[in-house]
Amino acid sequence: MENKAKIASVVGARPNFVKLYPIHNAIRNYSEHTIIHTGQHYDYELSETFFKEFDLPKPHYNLNVGSGTQAFQIGEMIKRLEAIFLKSDFDLVIVYGDTNSTLAGAFSAMRSGIKVAHVEAGLRSFDRRMPEEINRILTDNLSDYLFAPTETAVRNLKNEHVYGKIFNTGDLSVEIINHAIKLSSKSKILDHLELEPKSYILFTMHRAENTDSKDSLIAIIHAFELLSEIKIVFPIHPRTKKVLKEKNLYERLLKCKNVKLIKPLGYLDFVKLMKNANKVITDSGGIQKESYLLAVPCITIRNNTEWIETVDAGWNLITGMHTNKIVKAARNWIPTTKIKPILGDGRTSTIIKDLLC
Ligand code: UD1
Repeated sequence: MENKAKIASVVGARPNFVKLYPIHNAIRNYSEHTIIHTGQHYDYELSETFFKEFDLPKPHYNLNVGSGTQAFQIGEMIKRLEAIFLKSDFDLVIVYGDTNSTLAGAFSAMRSGIKVAHVEAGLRSFDRRMPEEINRILTDNLSDYLFAPTETAVRNLKNEHVYGKIFNTGDLSVEIINHAIKLSSKSKILDHLELEPKSYILFTMHRAENTDSKDSLIAIIHAFELLSEIKIVFPIHPRTKKVLKEKNLYERLLKCKNVKLIKPLGYLDFVKLMKNANKVITDSGGIQKESYLLAVPCITIRNNTEWIETVDAGWNLITGMHTNKIVKAARNWIPTTKIKPILGDGRTSTIIKDLLC
């Protein structure tokens, strides 16, 4: 019998699961694929629902690390992953994106003598306050194979003289979104929330550098107050809800009658909501590119982005946390350019499979 490569994927947070889906499907018949869940995300809405919606197998391991400080989380993951890796005969470990689980997976595998492949390598926001930026830089420097989604990402990696081999594979979001659009046609979320297509703005915010600043939170709530004529749908991340309550701002948010606060959504409902939104306001990385692929204008409430192509293409406006800029963009800004294939042709998972298996 032909010897198949033994590959393990380390995932732990919402954006990792989404990227796992196309890779698992591409490699599962050509490798022995083991899925390791660190337990970084454990709420049903942030974890299990993604495995169900994408028909992903139950992870072979769940390390149940849970929440905590950055050092606790990463440290526990490294320790618990090492216990698996040292006993394993994996040829390769794949890590995805820029979460704490990504960095822990790369570090632990590398120190256990296993090769590392990084999916979504080379992205840089050049904002070192973001934990994700540090995770990206460290993971890229630990990896043997760097799968870069864009030419900018390739250039960033070359500038940093990383050790591993760099490949421009395009971005997985193209195939993920195509698949999600098909599946999400069944979603009833618009009816459920009593929303007409294109009648609302979809809002998300969960980045530590935003939620941990009272000024940023106030700037956003003030923007909501000024935008009282626009319906805003806000699936609220548990971190954001917790911090708003701690800083005594949750009540003020609840007073904004134009804001529909809802629980975090599964991916298919979320894609349906994004596709039918008039605009998106977000601090997420993934949503900037997904909204571009869905031709929905994106207002990014950060001072920078790792997806600069979407800004250059004219569909992503960087406003920072400035109330007036956000309000003006929400009311008046309309992209005037056509959508171009800046994120690859949707063959990324096949290209990666051909390189690894
Ligand atoms: C993580 C990623 C971020 C990604 C985001 C998607 C890092 C550094 N950040 O941020 O890049 O965009 O996931 O959601 O890895 N919590 C729950 N239930 C859960 C998980 C978390 O209530 O299932 C709460 C806890 O209070 C926790 C907080 O959310 O302390 C933050 O969770 P954490 O996993 O540390 O980071 P995210 O903000 O989710």
